[in-house]
Amino acid sequence: MIVVKDLVRQFKSGDRTIKPVNGVSFELDKGSLASIVGKSGSGKSTLLSLLGALDKPTSGDVVVDGVSLAGLPDGKLTEYRRRDIGFVFQQFNLIPNLSAVDNVMLPMEFAGMRKAARLQRARELLEQVQLDPEKHSRRTNRLSGGEQQRVAIARALANEPKLILADEPTGNLDEQTGEHIIELLSSLSRDHDTTILVVTHDRSLAQKTGRCFRLQQGRLTEEVRTGLRR
Ligand SMILES: Nc1ncnc2c1ncn2[C@@H]1O[C@H](COP(=O)(O)OP(=O)(O)O)[C@@H](O)[C@H]1O
Ligand SMILES: [Mg+2]
Repeated sequence: MIVVKDLVRQFKSGDRTIKPVNGVSFELDKGSLASIVGKSGSGKSTLLSLLGALDKPTSGDVVVDGVSLAGLPDGKLTEYRRRDIGFVFQQFNLIPNLSAVDNVMLPMEFAGMRKAARLQRARELLEQVQLDPEKHSRRTNRLSGGEQQRVAIARALANEPKLILADEPTGNLDEQTGEHIIELLSSLSRDHDTTILVVTHDRSLAQKTGRCFRLQQGRLTEEVRTGLRR
């Protein structure tokens, strides 16, 4: 479970101070899929960076399964980021001239897994994200956008993270491909019991997640839903 407590991140911009994250609190249960919507510049990426320990808050805390990030030294924060977080970005951030399977194996190599085990797990993950087996060995710059995002999601899953942070993962995809990616994230949160937080400015995609938050003027509010969704 992720508990976010009164998180604040301020930036100096000239002689002004801006607070894109200004007192954000929420909790996410293990295995839930939630979305954050908000205008461009509203602080969505800033908030994800704080949750993934890519950045440090001005004040407040993120508590992951009882461990407070504010209390961790830098070395432990790096460990948290590598071991417990999977990132998925709009630009996919794959290594273009490596194959799909090699891209997925990379984080496992950093984690010290043996080559044969890495290869086997990478192939299983690519199957789970439904990448056509004949494309597993293809260089990722020769895959379509939707296929590249599937590879990026498989890579994010490689070390069995507690939390997947996806920053506009459908931003570079057409509508239908974007829907497939959200459905994939939804089934992964269910099957792996992985907590997934997706930033999107596509409201129809946000409707497909179990919970939906809006970030506005530094504050997060939850949209009330009716009906049964995860
Ligand atoms: N490292 C930084 N230094 C200064 N200002 C920043 C920094 N990162 C983000 N900002 C500012 O914080 C605000 C929120 O940015 P961001 O989190 O990227 O918004 P979003 O992802 O919702 O589009 C913007 O005004 C942006 O310019
Ligand atoms: Mg952003």
